Amino acid sequence: MRKKIVAGNWKMNKSYNDGLVLCYDILDKVAEPKATVVFCTPFIHLYAVNEVLKNREGFFLGAQNCHQEDKGAYTGETSIEMLQSVGVDYVILGHSERREYFGESDALLAQKTNKVLSNGLTPIFCCGESLDIRDAGSHVAHVNAQIEAGLFHLGAEEMEKVVIAYEPIWAIGTGRTASPAQAQEMHAAIRSLIAGKYGADLANSISILYGGSVNAANAKELFSQPDVDGGLVGGASLKADEFATIINSF
Ligand code: 13P
Repeated sequence: MRKKIVAGNWKMNKSYNDGLVLCYDILDKVAEPKATVVFCTPFIHLYAVNEVLKNREGFFLGAQNCHQEDKGAYTGETSIEMLQSVGVDYVILGHSERREYFGESDALLAQKTNKVLSNGLTPIFCCGESLDIRDAGSHVAHVNAQIEAGLFHLGAEEMEKVVIAYEPIWAIGTGRTASPAQAQEMHAAIRSLIAGKYGADLANSISILYGGSVNAANAKELFSQPDVDGGLVGGASLKADEFATIINSF
């Protein structure tokens, strides 16, 4: 059975104190999560949030990025060993904001994926198309190409540890969610791409999350689609009530 996951991507939001308050507020509202919950906080919050989460079943810590090298003269960067040393379990890779604003290429993301997996952490590998690409009808081909370039060098024993997040760029932060049918279509296409290379059993065991304007009102319908295994949530993960409702949407 594949895992149900709700991951909150705080992006570059919340001061240290406000982040801790958010974390405590969410924990107060969710006694026993029905899904694996991941808090993908900014780097400065990781240590303290881990201290809060570590005794709570079902809650995990995620980073929003990592560097592809082990260590060295990379000013401003954060290594996988550093992340591991503060209790990080998941690392978001290839978010469209990293691809677009920081020029992260498929080849770089393949390297980062290797680094995360070889250290025993779980990558949340993001993919998704722009509005132009969707309007041109080539969204499935585009997403397939991102997955092939970023992940298909992996052996089966590594691939089965990957979590994929489909995040159409036109739905991120816009309030315009993909319809449940649009999400299901893409998730099924991703699963079938993976099945073609790694077999149906492996494809069926991988969690594929939807991201893009997920909120308390639409989460239940999105998560009820057969190939949608949860969400990667931006704005709504910054509001304790909303995020708690999303976690309880399974
Ligand atoms: P929003 O939920 O704010 O649209 O952001 C989605 C996202 O980018 C999560 O990684």
